[in-house]
Amino acid sequence: MKITVTTELITSVATDCLIVTYCEDQDAVKGYTNRVDKALDGRISQLISDKEVTGKLGEVTMLHNWGKIASKRTLVVGLGKEEKLTIDKIRDAIGTAARYAAKKGITQVAFAVSNYYVERKFWNTVDAVQAVVEGVELGSYSFPGYKKENEKCCIEECIMIVKPEMERGAIDAGITRADVAATSTRLARDLVNEPGNLMTPEILAKKATEIAQNRNFEVTILNKKDLEQLGMGALLGVGQASANEPKMIVLKYSGDPESKDILGFVGKGVTFDSGGIQVKPDEHMGDMKTDMAGAAAVLGAMDAIGELQPHVNVMAVIPTCENMIGANNLKPGDVISSFSGKTIEIVHTDAEGRLILADGISYAKHLGATKIIDVATLTGSVISALGHTTTGIMCNNRDLLEEVKTAARLSGEKVWELPNFEEYQEFIESKIADVKNDAGRPAGCIQGGVFLGAFAEDTPWVHMDIAGTATTEKDNGHNPAGATGVAVRTLLQTALRFSGQ
Ligand code: BES
Ligand code: MN
Ligand code: ZN
Repeated sequence: MKITVTTELITSVATDCLIVTYCEDQDAVKGYTNRVDKALDGRISQLISDKEVTGKLGEVTMLHNWGKIASKRTLVVGLGKEEKLTIDKIRDAIGTAARYAAKKGITQVAFAVSNYYVERKFWNTVDAVQAVVEGVELGSYSFPGYKKENEKCCIEECIMIVKPEMERGAIDAGITRADVAATSTRLARDLVNEPGNLMTPEILAKKATEIAQNRNFEVTILNKKDLEQLGMGALLGVGQASANEPKMIVLKYSGDPESKDILGFVGKGVTFDSGGIQVKPDEHMGDMKTDMAGAAAVLGAMDAIGELQPHVNVMAVIPTCENMIGANNLKPGDVISSFSGKTIEIVHTDAEGRLILADGISYAKHLGATKIIDVATLTGSVISALGHTTTGIMCNNRDLLEEVKTAARLSGEKVWELPNFEEYQEFIESKIADVKNDAGRPAGCIQGGVFLGAFAEDTPWVHMDIAGTATTEKDNGHNPAGATGVAVRTLLQTALRFSGQ
């Protein structure tokens, strides 16, 4: 997307669609919106007194300007109540507006970044610019799909109107950050939105290799034979009923060769999860093509890291397979041995994510990762607990958890900690093996975390359960329906924080 910055008067900017904002419960329109309203002979304020424009967050109203100002249309978008305004709401509102425009076939939008928000609130110019540009780039995203007639419409250009006194360096920094964050988030969304037959472990490995070559990362793809030699019985076990063989993908970025510290990102790459022999119910099973969203988030973050080249070492480890049904299935009651040497009793074949991540986490440690963050669409239970807005996180190390929480807050991604009390260890106690992979209904999302923690052992580790946040059924702010690309920006921000950037 082309981004142009101008200090022209808002009413003189020639564009297809000018986006202006309005807060709920305001007596009068302010700032830029006021200037546009005046030039349009008070049409916006008329709509407000008619209650057609209310300012509710994400409400959009399209006006046609009929030559009264240089732009063809004005799109009024609500920001919600002013006292509750946050930078995340601005990203969401602009995202909704940009998507609305894109769906109308509009390819160019303009909006003003007001000093007003910068002055009244605690965010700075860089953050404000970043949020609006991310809003446009993420909100107007659409997956091309496979129809004969390509219906994809997109915003090609975005014109940002700024005050002359705003610092150009800060504006440019905001644009760059947004561009990197949005491009990598869109990359992750593209991977997740692909149908399962076109996103197999092999194809995922190819995509990872492309990213690695493009960014000059070291890349290794372990195939079935390699996994057998290494004794990765957990990943092999889950993958054994599928015609598409499992793989382990490893990418290495060395931004700080002097240091032994390596940040390890481990992503769940189940390209389709049927549940295995304890098969899932038929309703919505197709959604399980998105069960590699953790892997996609890790790849998106790595791509952004390759672009920004932070002073930190980062490794991506992605176990990938299909959880299918065949003659050779894992069965409840089976015992398998993992790469760590620990044996695992299979209680539920649908608790497959933690199995492949067990080998992923152990392998990351084996390769020298000193801090581990895993990202996984791990449990339905996290959706019951936190819904679709918030990622559940768990840890064995407070310092790393605080870093991830801060990174998430700066990225506008909501996370909430799930407890990891010692008492929960009984969830993984097995009569026949070192651990078991399921203990029934209670605290399902915590069970998943506790199981993974047994493989992280004493390496600082944070687990992110994105089962609820990786996709959205309906358009929602900067997230159009489908894959959200969640966790890309939190992982990226975490890496930047460790690099001191
Ligand atoms: N991939 C699913 C979790 C999931 C559910 C992701 C809904 C996205 C949306 C995972 O592999 C799974 O099946 N988890 C089971 C575990 C249970 C059988 C112990 C679950 O949470 O129900
Ligand atoms: Mn499953
Ligand atoms: Zn799964």
